[in-house]
Amino acid sequence: MSHAEADHDTRRSRQWLAGEARGAGVDRDRLLELGAAMAALTAAAAEREPVAVAAAPVGVDPGTPIAKPLPSELLRPLDTNAEMRWTALAGQGYVVPNDRFFVRNHTETPRLDADTWRLRLFGTGLRDAPTRDAPVEFSLDELRRLPAEESDALLECAGNGRRFFTEQQGDPAPGVAWGLGGVGVARWRGVRLGTVLRLAGLRDDAVDVMPEGLDPDYVTGGINLGRVRRPLPIAKALDDVLLAYEMNGEPLPADHGFPVRVVVPGWIGISSIKWVGPVEVSTTPLFSPWNTRFYRMFGPGHPAGGTVLGAQPVKSAFELAWDAWVPAGEEVLLRGRSWSGNGPIERVEVDTGDGWRPADLVAADRGGAWQRWTARWRPPAPGPFTLRARATDTTGASQPDRTAPNTLAYLFDAVVHHPVTAH
Ligand code: MTE
Repeated sequence: MSHAEADHDTRRSRQWLAGEARGAGVDRDRLLELGAAMAALTAAAAEREPVAVAAAPVGVDPGTPIAKPLPSELLRPLDTNAEMRWTALAGQGYVVPNDRFFVRNHTETPRLDADTWRLRLFGTGLRDAPTRDAPVEFSLDELRRLPAEESDALLECAGNGRRFFTEQQGDPAPGVAWGLGGVGVARWRGVRLGTVLRLAGLRDDAVDVMPEGLDPDYVTGGINLGRVRRPLPIAKALDDVLLAYEMNGEPLPADHGFPVRVVVPGWIGISSIKWVGPVEVSTTPLFSPWNTRFYRMFGPGHPAGGTVLGAQPVKSAFELAWDAWVPAGEEVLLRGRSWSGNGPIERVEVDTGDGWRPADLVAADRGGAWQRWTARWRPPAPGPFTLRARATDTTGASQPDRTAPNTLAYLFDAVVHHPVTAH
């Protein structure tokens, strides 16, 4: 696909290094400086994933980066983020309910007013090149009056599974220590970004679209990188990208982008900008630190400029607590889910200590954003056991025993060893 994530990122970083691209508010020299600073920090392993130090904006309680309740049986707080507990999915349907959907915030959830909120499109890629100060605007009601679409799309943080680099492989992996709960599927409802771009006067020679979040500026290493933003090529923007205002049949919750977020199916989570406000449409390539400095693979085996992060790799998880208790001698039905950024899951195997065997796939999920599966198991005796699950997607990609490490510890895809105890 010409608009595949990796292709786009490779192209844009080449252009960026060649000085062709520009980014709103941060010039190339400043970013190159930041690049050097980041490399030094990375080498010192002092700050593998930058931590936000932005001041709280007016109206936001600095003590609560996340608005929704975080009951410990559903979510595990991780700095400004919260990961879903896999036990909270046991017995649930295809989508992850909003109360337990993971939250990934660079800073904190802004509390926005839907009445005054506007989507603001500007840039050379629109007819008459409206400026940031005099953009083409849409209110929430105007967006809601446009033809609506629904899509079951999977969102996953590129750092999902990071904690297993350390715990399972002994590789250093500073940064947000996600288990496997930085992922979820929701039913999103909204208007196609393409519909809105055309109404705003999209020009034939537009090449990139950059949505920007209305959460606080992201500050790291003493440099203010501005609002969270990441460019999309026009082909992807006109394809299946949604401006979503509903999640699982409810207005978008505050933490997930209220009133409107971008949903970019198949691309890593950072592409799906929450709390979208300004949207630049340009006839020249755009870039942002979120596709040049972060969300790239650095370290042994990667060039100095890093390697692009492509689609998410294959992963599998049991809908079980870590160190769960299971009854010895009785049959238990193990449940889990597998997913891949390359496409649908073809098969899943499970090992409970005596070799790999096929799991049963839930037929209704075939070809979908993720695949539920089950496997029967009778723990033979009391004591500790290790459960393992591995999936293969329709491209033939599967899960290795070990993931080659990278400095920022992204894209962990090895088979996870899940401990349980029979009693
Ligand atoms: N958009 C804004 N404006 N600010 C953010 O911090 N985080 C991104 C993306 N969009 C982010 C954002 C990342 S890294 C991910 S994985 C997803 O949102 C997470 O979406 P969720 O919090 O709804 O699960």
